[in-house]
Formats: sequence, C-alpha cells, structure tokens
Amino acid sequence: LRSICGDDGVSQGEAIREQHGKDESMHRCRPPDVVVFPRCVEEVSALARVCHKHHLPIIPFGTGTGLEGGVGAVKGGVCFSLRKMGQVLDLHQEDFDVTVEPSVTRKALNAYLRDTGLWFPVDPGADASLCGMAATSASGTNAVRYGTMRESVLNLEVVLADGTILHTAGKGRHPRKTSAGYNLTNLFVGSEGTLGIITKTVLRLHGIPEATVSAVCSFPSVQTAVDSTVQILQAGVPIARIEFLDDVMIDACNRYSALSYQVTPTLFLEFHGSERSVEEQVKITENITQSNGGSDFQWARDAETRNRLWKARHDAWYASLALRPGCKAYATDVCVPLSRLPQIIVETKDDLIENRLTGPIAGHVGDGNFHCLIVLDPSDPEELQRVHLFTDRLARRALAMSGTCTGEHGVGLGKKALLREELGPTTIQVMQLLKDALDPKNLMNPGKIL
Ligand SMILES: Cc1cc2nc3c(=O)[nH]c(=O)nc-3n(C[C@H](O)[C@H](O)[C@H](O)COP(=O)(O)OP(=O)(O)OC[C@H]3O[C@@H](n4cnc5c(N)ncnc54)[C@H](O)[C@@H]3O)c2cc1C
Ligand SMILES: *[C@@H]1O[C@H](CO)[C@@H](O)[C@H](O)[C@H]1NC(C)=O
Ligand SMILES: *[C@@H]1O[C@H](CO)[C@@H](O)[C@H](O)[C@H]1NC(C)=O
Repeated sequence: LRSICGDDGVSQGEAIREQHGKDESMHRCRPPDVVVFPRCVEEVSALARVCHKHHLPIIPFGTGTGLEGGVGAVKGGVCFSLRKMGQVLDLHQEDFDVTVEPSVTRKALNAYLRDTGLWFPVDPGADASLCGMAATSASGTNAVRYGTMRESVLNLEVVLADGTILHTAGKGRHPRKTSAGYNLTNLFVGSEGTLGIITKTVLRLHGIPEATVSAVCSFPSVQTAVDSTVQILQAGVPIARIEFLDDVMIDACNRYSALSYQVTPTLFLEFHGSERSVEEQVKITENITQSNGGSDFQWARDAETRNRLWKARHDAWYASLALRPGCKAYATDVCVPLSRLPQIIVETKDDLIENRLTGPIAGHVGDGNFHCLIVLDPSDPEELQRVHLFTDRLARRALAMSGTCTGEHGVGLGKKALLREELGPTTIQVMQLLKDALDPKNLMNPGKIL
C-alpha cells in the first residue's frame, strides 16, 4: 500500500483508525485495520487491486457524518479516506453542471460557485462530502423543489472492487437527459459503498433565484399543518422549503436559538423566484394557511432574519441534545406518502409519550419524510431497549402505510432486516445478484445494506 500512495498515505495509528471507524450515529466504533489516503483515481484503482488480490475489505470514507453506521469496518480491512482528492473540475456554466472529487463538501462547492450565479441546492444538515451524499442518496430541506441526490447526479466515476475504473454514463458525458441503456448512475446512487468507490460526481446546478422570502406559521394541530402543505403543493406553488417542527421541537429551538415562536406545530417555509412570483407564492400560501387555522404568519425578506431562521432549523439536532445535557441523539428517518403523514406523526407522538421517550420531531414534510430525534442516555440499557422497540415500531408503521424505512439516511448496519420486509425476497434476491456480479468476493463495505 505504501508503495502506491507513499509513507504518509498509509496509517495504522490507533487514533486515525478510531476516527475512521465511526460516523455520527449511535453504532459503536469498528476501526479498520489500516487507513489509506489516495491522491488520485489511479491510486484508488491500484489500492483496490491490492485489496482484491489479498481478499481485504474496502470501506470508502467521505466526511463521516452518516447516521446509519455506514463506515464501520465490521470485518476489518482497509478504509479508503478520500480527503486528499478535493478538486472542483469542469464547471460548465451554460450547461448548469460541474464535476467534483470526493472530499469536496456541499458548502465548499457553493463557496466555489459564489460568483457564477449558480448553486447546488441539496443540503443535509451536515457539511457532508458530495460523493458521500451520492453514496447515501442524501437530501434535505430543498428536496421538495430541487430533488434529492438521485435527481442531481448526471454521471459518476467509480472504482470497482477489482480496480476497474468505470464511468456510469460514459466518459466525459453530461447530457441533461438520455435513454441510453440501463441507468448505472442510479444504481450507484444510494449504494453506500457496497458496489464501488465513487471518485468523481457530475452534478446538476441551478440558477440562484432573484428573490428569496422565508416565512414561519403556527398551527393548532399536526393535521392542519400537513393539510396546508398538501394544499400548497396542489395549488402549484413551487415551494423551495417546507419544514415541519412539532411542539417539542419548536420549544427546543426556542430555548437553544433564543427565539420566541408559539409552542405548537409549526411550518418553516421558503419561496424562491422572481420578485413578482415570490410575492404571488406568499399570497397564495398565506391564504391557505389562514383557511386551515394557521396564525402568526411571519415573513422575512432580509438575509439576516432568513439566515437566523434556517440556522435554527439546521441546529435542531443540537437543540434536541440540549434538552437532556450529557445525553446522545439518535435520528429515525421514515418516509410515507403525503396523505398518511398526519396519522403517522400523531401515532408516533402518542407512542413517545406512552414510552416516556424524549423525541422532538422535525420533517421535510413536503416529501412525507420526518425524523424523531430521540435523546437518550446511552449508559441506561433499559432506556436503550425502549428506544430500540420504539424505532422498530415506527419503521413498521411506515411500512404498513406503504412508505419506506429510510427516506434519506440509508440502510447501513441497522436497517437490513427492515429492508427485507420493505422489498420482499424477490427484490432482495435481484439486488444480491447485482452485488455478486459487481463484487463477487464481497469486499466492498461488507455487512451493509444486504
Ligand atoms: C446533524 C446532522 C444532520 C443531518 N441531516 C441530514 C439530512 O437532512 N438529510 C440527509 O440525507 N442526511 C442527513 N445527515 C446524514 C449525513 O450528512 C448524510 O448521510 C451524508 O450523505 C453522509 O456523507 P459523508 O460524506 O459524511 O459520508 P460518510 O458518513 O463518510 O459515509 C456514508 C456512507 O457512504 C459511503 N461513502 C462515502 N463516501 C463514498 C464514496 N466516495 N464512494 C463510495 N461510498 C462512499 C460510506 O462507505 C458509508 O457507507 C445528517 C447528519 C448530521 C450529523
Ligand atoms: C439516471 O440516474 C441518475 C441518478 O439517479 C438521474 O439523475 C438521471 O436522471 C437518470 N437518467 C434517466 C434517463 O432516468
Ligand atoms: C383566498 O382564496 C379564496 C379562494 O380561492 C379567494 O376567494 C380569496 O379571495 C383569497 N384571499 C386572498 C386574500 O387572496
């Protein structure tokens, strides 16, 4: 390995291995045997060939912000930390696309794009690597308007377990649409490092809107907040963000971010467009929220107020933790068809109260996706058990409502059994066939997804 990426490109130090054996989830640290730091795709490929020859597991590592234990080396092996590959390449302004290497994060890309009038909208709360986001099929608050990573990736450069370098849509290609054969790009989006190492991602960009307006609105119930969301979408308002916070979450955010919103179910909204279009969107939305009993519709045009609002939303994780100092947070992530959202949130809140759990709820409600941020004491085995049973019930509730056990965090280590229930044996078998075809020795991130 040293002969490929140099003495400082290989580390067996305990601290480095520990750092690379865990993400931001509750899964315990599973350090790899060694961490390598390749500088280019040729080195990634050469390292993979060595691993292939010697039957060593390969675990790709982005920024370690994952929430499902995806980077844990459950069978030991070699962690490929891609942090030395951090270039932004081939910005095509007129084509609205750009190519990034694995350690470029979403914030770094948007800083790079600052003077071009373009931006990349997909935003999980964390400043994650864009290739890692492709690997988990991440999304976030802007997905309701701009789509998830699935809609954002045009092409991928991938290194397979045996070192083969592959361009999923053909080398150098970046058309906006295609009917050319199987969609291998989509196969690798969401593959969580189990099929190959993503070494370049070609991303779709968007124009920065002329005007942006944010708004906050309080509701008498979960049902009225979700009804408003459905009606806003039905009215054809191209809403950019529509985030739900339950009473417990808004209370936590009030305390943590020194705000003073009413402690009731709340929507945070954002509108993008021309001045006139935004004005019209706000008017229609205000009308809809009022007819559903929403009150306190406060809107903000200035960047400072808007930033304070969205910072509070992105700090929801830390606001939740502050509810029980010294505890840890565990984020659930189910997604259901929109029409089932009020019912599942109401049932979930009852379940939390019945089982004496602290679990503020925040959701990308325009997509039917929500998170319970359960704050728990990890040294209390009885509480851990209660949380475990709760999260299983929540996922099964989502499956019973024709939804999915994960809207955006992925399967990782903890949701393998739920995935089988969700897809059924035939679909799982076909997935296993694909896995066996691309990685017959089961070296790529073993123990995850399947
Ligand atoms: C506070 C907080 C809020 C979050 N909010 C959201 C949210 O709203 N929406 C959301 O979707 N996620 C959210 N996340 C989760 C996380 O940010 C995403 O899952 C993100 O996509 C992980 O990217 P990463 O680079 O950190 O990946 P890692 O954690 O490094 O890896 C995740 C998985 O991807 C694989 N992987 C990483 N890089 C590559 C690569 N180059 N090639 C192949 N496989 C690779 C790894 O092997 C692993 O299986 C949040 C996380 C935190 C801490
Ligand atoms: C193929 O998949 C990618 C990634 O999910 C997606 O962006 C693209 O639109 C898909 N292409 C077609 C033709 O469906
Ligand atoms: C709200 O919508 C109703 C029904 O479409 C309409 O009659 C009314 O004029 C609207 N009110 C405002 C303030 O736009």
